[in-house]
Amino acid sequence: MTQTTDRRTADQHQQGLHAHPHPALAFSITERDDRLGDLEREIVLSDPGFGKTFTDHMVRATWTLGAGWHDAEVTAYGPLLLDPAAAVLHYAQEIFEGMKAYRHADGSVWTFRPEANAARFNRSARRLALPELPESDFIESLRALVSTDVDWVPEPGPSGEKSLYLRPFMFASEVFLGVRPAAEVTYCVIASPAAAYFSGGAKPISLWVSTDFARAGDGGTGAAKCGGNYASSLAGQMEGAQHGCDQAVFLDSSTHDYIEELGGMNLFLVYRDGRLVTPELNGSILEGVTRSSILELAKDLGLQPEERRIPIAEWKDAARSGELAEVFACGTAAVITPVGELKWDGGSVDHRSYGPADSEPAMGVPESVALRLREMLLDIQYGRVEDSRGWLTQLA
Ligand code: COI
Repeated sequence: MTQTTDRRTADQHQQGLHAHPHPALAFSITERDDRLGDLEREIVLSDPGFGKTFTDHMVRATWTLGAGWHDAEVTAYGPLLLDPAAAVLHYAQEIFEGMKAYRHADGSVWTFRPEANAARFNRSARRLALPELPESDFIESLRALVSTDVDWVPEPGPSGEKSLYLRPFMFASEVFLGVRPAAEVTYCVIASPAAAYFSGGAKPISLWVSTDFARAGDGGTGAAKCGGNYASSLAGQMEGAQHGCDQAVFLDSSTHDYIEELGGMNLFLVYRDGRLVTPELNGSILEGVTRSSILELAKDLGLQPEERRIPIAEWKDAARSGELAEVFACGTAAVITPVGELKWDGGSVDHRSYGPADSEPAMGVPESVALRLREMLLDIQYGRVEDSRGWLTQLA
């Protein structure tokens, strides 16, 4: 039975979600005449932090069940006028992406593997019963915003990692309290100048093993990039903070034995023998674009990438035996961040304290895999080396 408040059947909605192949969206651009002044913008760009300030404009488009995608525009950045009954505020039908625009030495601006983000956005959309947005429209929306606000893309700076963080998102804007997929949806892109995600830069972070709280479960939304997953990670993160940790690591929800991810980042373990191990995609882990890029780049370093189930006990044992050389977290916002201590209810371990004094990494393996991979990624993203894999797309 579909609900009585709405005569649409699930089938009709399903057809509606995919029924409107449209010509490429044309993003009309209405430039505001009160842009932030050059001097004020340069002050923001000199020390942007993360996610605190936003550019002059934003992208907005609307989807309705009857008409598909329409009214695509670049307009002044500003608050959204939402009815208190907008479905997203009640049932969290929302998805997002995280990407960056990088300024190259010649002034041009590029983004990294946007097709992968567009594909993931559509996988998330399907999971949350939202309409898909064609890849070309997704990329065009980024181009329209970044070319309008191109002065907001910082130079990489002394840290070498300043960029313009791009946040595409889509949510149920229909005014309706029945629980069913919304018949009106809004797509937006906002942009925020960004430096390092963690205030300590590439300084190692500490992790709390969350056993009371899982981030996602079998058949749930763990593989989708939806706000709800991030909300559900916050209690674990708070528990970690109470134990003096920077982030929480979540385990599988059924056995609590296997490592999944941090909520906002994927995890990698580096063994002294050259194995680079990360939890396999099991439906509840986010398929990170940085994660998959690292698995590719690892081969160039002579590492042996492995995607498999990793018991949390393996991490503790390998740290104590000295087999584990490094652990790092990765994501678009944080790039690659080394992990130092792992703490749990009743103990802690830090792989950096256990390596035998005379241990050498395997032949050809760099001393810090995390820092070398980070440099390789940033070199590609900022155009300092040839983009031999075709991972960059020019935005401006
Ligand atoms: C990203 O790395 O871009 C993320 O989406 C993680 C976080 C900032 C939510």
